[in-house]
Parts: sequence; structure tokens; C-alpha cells
Amino acid sequence: NNYWVIVPAAGSGKRMGADKPKQYLPLNGKSLIAHTLENVRQWPGVKGVVVAIAVDDTEFKTLHCAQDPRIHTVTGGAERADSVLAALNYLSERQPAQTPVLVHDAARPLVNTDDIQKLLAASPIALLAQPASDTVKQSRECEDKSIVQQTLPRAQIWLAQTPQKAPLGLLREVLQKGLQENPAAITDEASALELAGHSPELVAACRSNFKVTHPADLILAEALINYRAS
Ligand code: C5P
Repeated sequence: NNYWVIVPAAGSGKRMGADKPKQYLPLNGKSLIAHTLENVRQWPGVKGVVVAIAVDDTEFKTLHCAQDPRIHTVTGGAERADSVLAALNYLSERQPAQTPVLVHDAARPLVNTDDIQKLLAASPIALLAQPASDTVKQSRECEDKSIVQQTLPRAQIWLAQTPQKAPLGLLREVLQKGLQENPAAITDEASALELAGHSPELVAACRSNFKVTHPADLILAEALINYRAS
């Protein structure tokens, strides 16, 4: 294994409704992003990490893990995909195009190492995902209401997580192209790869790898961190 990790951490976290970006909210005395980076640093075989931070970020450099020479930073962009692309541009000047890259959200502190091992052993283009446990409805707007358009066959529904893995050069190319052609459709790395005709492998992962998004997610993440430490 000889791969790099990109951590987009330049979001504002509006859905959290807090007074600072969610990646800096405290979880058991440490910020959310510090938990995530401490987790990433012990993944087997990780060569380096590029973190995309907001242009006005003043907090990142105060983190203990920011002193790790394997951790680099770049300035992120307006959307998650722009932040990831900034990190890919940085990396492509320093690493060969075939270098495997794992993109992992700063807001997912609880991914477990077994799932990382499974992802590393999977196809070169792959992502962690969770088979749906709820029935999923596709909606359409009708007057001022949302109504069911159809029920999707649940056995084929997966919820995409991160990390998402692809070779550096390919990921940079498809993300650039996707952002030019259909930016609204690029909500993760896999969607850009799919638009370019690739079929990423889905690797079933643990539900605890959820993205901390709403206030209740912080409580759950804190409880799981305490449970793992006990
Ligand atoms: O907002 P959301 O939860 O989808 O963000 C997922 C990840 O992408 C977060 O870690 C967030 O910091 C990051 N992000 C980013 N640049 C943006 C928006 C989000 O790096 N412009």
C-alpha cells in the first residue's frame, strides 16, 4: 500500500446551526476534525494526507496533528468537489498519476480500520457504502407538496460514505470534467467517475461511519467514541 488521503474540511456546516464550522466543534474535548485525522493517520500504509481548509481558517494550525509532517494543507473551494480538486491539483504536482487516493470527509470521525482494509483490497475504483435499511421513496413536487413518484427497490439501494478510492490522475480528470459539464451532479467522487463511464465497486461498511451533519449526530458520535475507548 502506498496511497494518499484527501480530507475535504473547508465546509461551513450550516446544517449544524453552530457558531463555527462543524469540523471544529468539540467532541470529548477534541475537535471533530482532530478525531478524524487521528483516525486517518493510523490507517495501514497511508503515505500522506492533504487537508483542504477554508480560506479564512485560523484554527487548523493550532491542532496537535497539524504538526505531523505527513499532513499537508491546501485552500478549499466553494463546493466540496472544488475543495477535493484543489487537493488533487496539489498532489498531482508531487505524486505519480497512478497513486491511489482515498477521499475522506472530515465529518466522518468513526470509520473503522476493518472497513479501510476492505476498501484497500477492493477494485482500484471503489467506495465504502451502507446497504439501505429504510425504504427509499423518490419524490416529485405537486402544487406545494412533495409526493411519492416511486419506491426504489431496496435491495439495490446503498448510501454512499467515504473514503472513496480512485487513481490520482483519473480522479482529477473526471472531477475537472464533471465540474465543467454538470456541477450539480457531482456530489461525491464516485458520481464524477460514473459520469465518465466508470462503475465504482461498492464495499459494505459499518453504519457507525456516518457523517456528522445535524446536532444529534454529535451526541451519537460522542457516545460511540466513549464506547470504543471503554
Ligand atoms: O457539507 P457536507 O457535510 O456535505 O460536507 C462534507 C465534507 O466536505 C465536510 O468535511 C466539509 O468540511 C467538506 N467541504 C469542503 N468544502 C466545501 C464544502 C464542504 O471541503 N466547500
